[in-house]
Amino acid sequence: MARQPQPVIAIYPGSFDPITNGHLDLIRRASGLFDTLVVSILRNENKQPLFSVHERMEMLREVGTEFPNVDVDCFDGLLVQYAARRNAKVIIRGIRAISDYEYELQMTHMNRRLNPHIETVFLMANEAYSFISSKLVKEVFRLGGDISGLVPASVEARMRNQVLAGKF
Ligand code: PNS
Repeated sequence: MARQPQPVIAIYPGSFDPITNGHLDLIRRASGLFDTLVVSILRNENKQPLFSVHERMEMLREVGTEFPNVDVDCFDGLLVQYAARRNAKVIIRGIRAISDYEYELQMTHMNRRLNPHIETVFLMANEAYSFISSKLVKEVFRLGGDISGLVPASVEARMRNQVLAGKF
């Protein structure tokens, strides 16, 4: 009797500080390709994030509700070890421009060396979002520029709250 195919779990790791419409587009597309997509935030003690891991998870959950096969999580330590714990066979990464490629290639080779059973799959960013990064969005917002259409409305509202809380 033929074996039943195993559901394929993919991890989409990142900082997501905050999630942008570029990330959201990738989540939408990747969630259509895999049985489960785990969007997972790196806990990075060395970075000073705008939003705590808890807040970023809340934001991801708020915008991710339309995708029933998307799970939101966080991790620390090596990504491939975390992926193995979650039974994921695939790591998803987005490429916006050639400038992303070198860093991504390095990470892919290192991750493959650490665990050859986990494959990294790249999705090219939608051209409409190829110039967006969390870092640029924060900078433009801090300097009073218009970021509507670059992040989900709920994220923009939270950014305004961060200003009121003096965190910007
Ligand atoms: O969105 P980002 O900040 O570019 O994501 C980077 C991320 C989280 C994918 C990367 O820093 C990572 O995987 N960190 C976990 C630690 C690790 O496994 N390092 C070795 C990677 S080769």
